[in-house]
Amino acid sequence: METVPVLDGIHSAETFHPAFLEAFFGLVARLEAHPQEFHNALQGKIIASVFEEPSTRTRLSFEVAAQRLGAGVITVADPATSSRVKGESLKDSARVLGGYADLMVLRHPRDGASRLVAQASGIPVVNGGDGRLGHPTQTLIDLYTLRKEWEGFEGRVVGILGDLRYGRTARSLAWGLAACGASILLLPGPGLSWEGGLEERILRRFEYRRRPVKHPLIPGWTGSSEAWILEPRNLVQGDLFGSGVADLNQVDALYLTRLQEERGARQERGAYPGVDQERMGNSLLSSCVLLHPLPRQAELPDTLDSDPRLRCFEQARLGPVVRQAVFLALLQGEVWSIPAVTPLPTGEDKHDLGSCRNSNCVTLEEEIPPPWRVEGRKPRLFLCAFCDTPLHVEYLGCRSTRRVHPLHSASSGKIRAENLRPFASREQAELAEYAWGG
Ligand code: NCD
Repeated sequence: METVPVLDGIHSAETFHPAFLEAFFGLVARLEAHPQEFHNALQGKIIASVFEEPSTRTRLSFEVAAQRLGAGVITVADPATSSRVKGESLKDSARVLGGYADLMVLRHPRDGASRLVAQASGIPVVNGGDGRLGHPTQTLIDLYTLRKEWEGFEGRVVGILGDLRYGRTARSLAWGLAACGASILLLPGPGLSWEGGLEERILRRFEYRRRPVKHPLIPGWTGSSEAWILEPRNLVQGDLFGSGVADLNQVDALYLTRLQEERGARQERGAYPGVDQERMGNSLLSSCVLLHPLPRQAELPDTLDSDPRLRCFEQARLGPVVRQAVFLALLQGEVWSIPAVTPLPTGEDKHDLGSCRNSNCVTLEEEIPPPWRVEGRKPRLFLCAFCDTPLHVEYLGCRSTRRVHPLHSASSGKIRAENLRPFASREQAELAEYAWGG
């Protein structure tokens, strides 16, 4: 495996792959075992920590990580004290900070903000949470915490419980678990499932399948008798047609999340799912470790604080050391030999596909056309390159033949990636002087 510095930053857990994770966790383990080896490893570097949303753990643990490595830190902890309140665009702020710092950690309320800031600043950017889209370094902490428990992830079942729709830690964790080959039990609170095709994208990328599961504990969590499990196809060879309901005998970890009210999440009183002593007494959860990114609310009561299965404070404790490894991977990649995380394609914005449909996309705040990137072949999926929302595409043109086909036709699947020219409507294709079919 070629080892190159990971210069593009860490924006999405979607880019994690097994070779990266293995080398990365090896580095975290070395940092834990021999912290003195790394003192001053980043002396002379400046890290900008820009938090445009509230944070305790994430910001402070990044700053502790920088200081442990001897780097200098500059901070915006309260956006009310920066020029952004004078109407400065995110792009302009990013460009300026790119000249001051070697790396930036960004937390921002808009989906896709870190990718946009990475483009504008020209320095590696670490996403410290963007809107409801992702929180990839929290995922690195979550996976490292689990890796300390288990030899491997194969055959393990991890339940994700609560606010899947608005919770960025849950979304990122799903990508990370799939990269590790774990089965993912989806336990959204009522009305809090993922939208935007996330599940389908995971199924396609990792050759996973989705099966219903039943268990007496499930209705009290999701409000429905059934839940869904995403699992590697090769785990379920016996059930070729995928019609069967999967048996659920054991959940190895449960990832709890709070209701993200600040993002518009609402729930009937008492309907939001969580755990308590009684539920934790169920045999399904007998050896189930409990994770929570914190802050917690009623879903994880402190009556469980002495439960030996609780890991949330261990996750918080591991925050700084995992983030030290993030900085080293990005700024000293050639020394510590971390295989590169595959950057997401930047996409193109030359074609007018209209605005991004996600009202929280950073492109709307910045008033820029959404650049797109493409995924899959049958059919091709065009996503906003910043927030991953599918863009409205009906027809596909080929730039070399200048012919256009319906998106779902066999011909459109044959167009080479470099020749793709998406259109939202027939009129658009005609205006661009593309001929039909053939
Ligand atoms: C999470 C976040 O900000 O997304 N917290 C964290 O980083 N530890 C989860 C949350 O706020 O619910």
